Amino acid sequence: MQGLLKFITCGSVDDGKSTLIGHMLYDAKLIFTDQKKTLEMDSKVKSTEGGIDYSLLLDGLMAEREQGITIDVAYRYFTTERRAFIVADTPGHEEYTRNMAVGASFADLAVILIDATKGVLVQTKRHTRICALMGIKSVVYAVNKMDLADYDEGVFEKVKREIKKLTSEYDFTSEYVIPVSATAGDNVTVKSVNMPWYQGDTLLSYLEQVDVADHKDETGFVLPIQRVSRPNHEFRGFQGQIEVGSISVGDEIGVLPSGEKAKIQSIYNTDKQVETAYKGQAVTVSLDREVDISRGCILVRDVELTVGKLFTCKLLWMDDKPLIQGKNYLLKLGTKAIPAVVMKVRAKIDVNEGSRIATDKIYKNEIAICELECQEQIVFDKFENHKELGSFILIDRISHMTSACGVVEYGLRREQNIRWHEMDITRALRSEQMNQTPKTIWLTGLSGAGKSTIANALEKKFFEDGKHTMLLDGDNVRHGLNKDLGFKEKDRIENIRRIAEVAKLMNDAGLIVLVSFISPLQADRRKAREIIGDDIFEEVYISTPIEECERRDVKGLYKKARAGKIPNFSGISSPYEPPEAAEITIDTTGKSIEDVVEYILSNLRK
Ligand code: ADX
Repeated sequence: MQGLLKFITCGSVDDGKSTLIGHMLYDAKLIFTDQKKTLEMDSKVKSTEGGIDYSLLLDGLMAEREQGITIDVAYRYFTTERRAFIVADTPGHEEYTRNMAVGASFADLAVILIDATKGVLVQTKRHTRICALMGIKSVVYAVNKMDLADYDEGVFEKVKREIKKLTSEYDFTSEYVIPVSATAGDNVTVKSVNMPWYQGDTLLSYLEQVDVADHKDETGFVLPIQRVSRPNHEFRGFQGQIEVGSISVGDEIGVLPSGEKAKIQSIYNTDKQVETAYKGQAVTVSLDREVDISRGCILVRDVELTVGKLFTCKLLWMDDKPLIQGKNYLLKLGTKAIPAVVMKVRAKIDVNEGSRIATDKIYKNEIAICELECQEQIVFDKFENHKELGSFILIDRISHMTSACGVVEYGLRREQNIRWHEMDITRALRSEQMNQTPKTIWLTGLSGAGKSTIANALEKKFFEDGKHTMLLDGDNVRHGLNKDLGFKEKDRIENIRRIAEVAKLMNDAGLIVLVSFISPLQADRRKAREIIGDDIFEEVYISTPIEECERRDVKGLYKKARAGKIPNFSGISSPYEPPEAAEITIDTTGKSIEDVVEYILSNLRK
């Protein structure tokens, strides 16, 4: 008996996916009798010319029945005499690419439906590409509705040629094309009498036999840590599921990313103590010495994984909002979840041709090639080497929606070739000599809120006090360092990133830095805080309302913006997201500069 087969079905709306799988289950007597009765009764209500509507069997969700389309990934388990199966029925509607990608990431094989009367469509190409992207190596094309094509061999051969052309671009380890009729049942589980010219397997018998095992020789040992368990003072156990190889008590392992070494002291498989544990088992292991290990660390032996921050990847973009270069997301890879930035969009992939198109904007359902930078070192591998450590999702940090799923192409070496040098004169020594604690006071607020005026007055106060300072002002910095940047979201992100890095360097020099930038987006200010360091970052929100800023209109910009002469103007045609937890918030309306400065100084953290 072959091992478990996990597969997905993909097809456009009305290709008959649910009907096909439903028919397979029905014919193979894989449904319970009462289910069969309900089905026959149901079909009287919603029937296809009095026959049984097999899709009802699979469209488990009420909403699906009502809408007549499948709206989520539905997993079904079934067993024949020859094999056990799990099928993820994924929606065909273009809106639901997300679900298809989720289904594909779990499966070993894809059954892709094609309407014989329509042939290979853009959808077919998209489905094939997503399956390949998510690592599926085996595909079956079910050329459906052969009954509507008069069971004509010529029609089938034509579609088959289109399929061959499509798959020549990929390196699937197995591909198979079967002419079927999901409603009539031809070649689903029983060989069709209507297509004597077809000599191949039926869909079910093919699925029962196909070998999808990865015959790559796996060496070594990989255990990603999911949890650290500390039931009492003596025991510290590291828990996770073994992904590669086996491990025995006494074996020496390495810990990534730290690179420390230790020996396995004990192993528990569930609550039983064992000598050896194997791939697929959930285990708790303890080590012979204290090693700093937390969730996301990986225990390894004899494998080469990459430890780094930078890699290139292929992303399937699933967010309604387009992907923006420089934006910060939460990356989940293996058992690790950390902030990460899409540093650069290199290109997008044309679904039809597979060619690369240069762009820096990626829209929903597009596949992009990007460079990603994680906030800290993580352990990863190329997707082709290692599915679990080579695939990830990106989560929007505000909406918490999954914005993309992706696979690692390769680690970028440029970070491996640059080293951090520890210098003798440190920030601490410099600030001691200056007799002050470096800080970054970050003023955010709308144009005209009073940021520059306040920053200027604040700096004068510090100066009088004998402090060493520097003021970085949006308008001024945009005359020099950032003169290549405009006001689109991508440019503003880069504007803030550069200023945060500059402020950090100045803090390293021992200075108290005043930053006066609109910095309209929460995520960018959060990133600035991360770069500079939470302990010395003071966010000051100059909360003067837009009506007041517009009344002042010192530079006459609001007037121009209202007249449509300045695109992307903050607060008018581009968003301003007020801080949720600024250290200090002050509205300047009706207050003197002295009062505002006094208020800020007395509220700064010491
Ligand atoms: S930020 O949004 O990227 O932080 P920054 O503080 O550097 O903006 O620059 C804002 C200054 O640029 C404003 O004070 C204003 O004088 C000028 N400016 C020109 N165009 C715009 C615009 N579209 N939106 C906001 N400010 C603009």
